[in-house]
Parts: sequence; structure tokens; C-alpha cells
Amino acid sequence: MAFSPAYKTFEKNANFPDGRTMQAPVTGTIARDQPMFHFAATPQDAISAGEQLTNPFLLGAEEAAAATKRGHMVFQTFCTPCHGGDGTGNGPIAQRGFPPPPSLMTGKSLEMKDGQLFHILTLGQNSMPNFAAQLPPSRRWDVITYLRKLQEKEQPTTAPAVESGQENTESSDDEPSDAETESAESGEKP
Ligand code: HEC
Repeated sequence: MAFSPAYKTFEKNANFPDGRTMQAPVTGTIARDQPMFHFAATPQDAISAGEQLTNPFLLGAEEAAAATKRGHMVFQTFCTPCHGGDGTGNGPIAQRGFPPPPSLMTGKSLEMKDGQLFHILTLGQNSMPNFAAQLPPSRRWDVITYLRKLQEKEQPTTAPAVESGQENTESSDDEPSDAETESAESGEKP
């Protein structure tokens, strides 16, 4: 056994057809422990992602609570600059000329499945940047879990810091009257 000649990363290499030492990974290679994500940045694929991907943190109440807590931190750090602390889209960047995002508390975001939100966070959507580099997949699911809680609570003006403890008995003085209930049942938003 004598000297074994190892190639340096960027050295020329006659053993490969392209003459390089560093070879690209085989098509379809994914990093170890990373979940599969084989969707393109198209609206159709966003919908497919919604149908195929499920939030891994919704398996139990404990996991969901922990994910919500982490997601709260992620949201405050990465999302509030544009979406605002209450998710309605009035963050400081939006107030200074960046195209204001739609409210995350109403409309499309409520209807989109978790997997579609994951697609948006992974690949972006129009002027919304993607967060694939900043947030590993598990943190993206965390923020989605938190977002769902925020939507459930529908407390657009207060940051939902209280995750445990006192039950917030949804203000009973806000009960719709009989007339309003009827119009709601007939399909109109009260
Ligand atoms: C730089 C500003 C900016 C940041 C930061 C940002 N967003 Fe957005 N977001 C936008 C804009 C603008 C849109 C609207 C994009 C469009 O026109 O389709 C949007 C859209 C969305 C939508 C889709 C809403 C819809 O109705 O189509 C979701 C969900 C969303 N953002 C979640 C997040 C989350 C979660 C974070 C934090 C991890 C985040 N965004 C960070 C600007 C931002």
C-alpha cells in the first residue's frame, strides 16, 4: 500500500465524461431525513400538494400544542413584517409600500388545505417569498399549525399569547339574534 491519490473537489477528473470531480446528485436525490417534495411552483401543483401532504404535527393534542407554540415564534419572526401580528396583512413592510398581502384570517387561506400552505411556504406565491432556505420543513408545518389556531380564534387585534389555561368562552353577548341566525342559515354571511 502506497499513496492513494484522492482528487480535490474542483480538480479536473478524466474518469468522468464531463471531466469534473464533483458530480451532481442523481436526479430525484433527496437529503437524508428530508420529506419528499415533488411539486413545481404552479397553481395546479399547489392544489396537488394540498391533496397529498398532511401536517405531521396533528397526530396528537400534545404535538399540536408544541407545534403551535413554536409556530407562534416563527410567525412573529418571519411573517409579521408583511402579514402583521394578527395576520390581517398590515405589517410594517406592507405599510411602507410592499404589495399588501391578503388577510390570512379570511378568504382563500381559510379554504386552502394545510399542504397548499406548505407549498406556498416552500415555493412562494407571486410576490410572497418562499421560506425554504430559512425554515426547515418541520418549522413550516409549525407555522401552519399556529396559523390554523389563529384563524380558529379569530382574534384579529390581539396576539394569542395564551395557549393554555382559561377557556375563552366566546363572548356570549355577541350571539346573533334570531333574525341574523336565519339569514346565516339561508346562506348569507351575517
Ligand atoms: C415580504 C413579505 C411577506 C412575508 C415576510 C410573508 N408573506 Fe405571505 N404573502 C405575502 C404576499 C404579498 C402575499 C400575496 C401573494 C399573492 O399575490 O399571491 C402572501 C400570501 C400568503 C399566503 C396566501 C394567502 C392567499 O390568500 O393567497 C399565505 C398562506 C402566506 N402568505 C403565509 C405566510 C407565512 C406563514 C409567512 C411567514 C412564514 C409569510 N406569509 C411571510 C407577503 C409576505
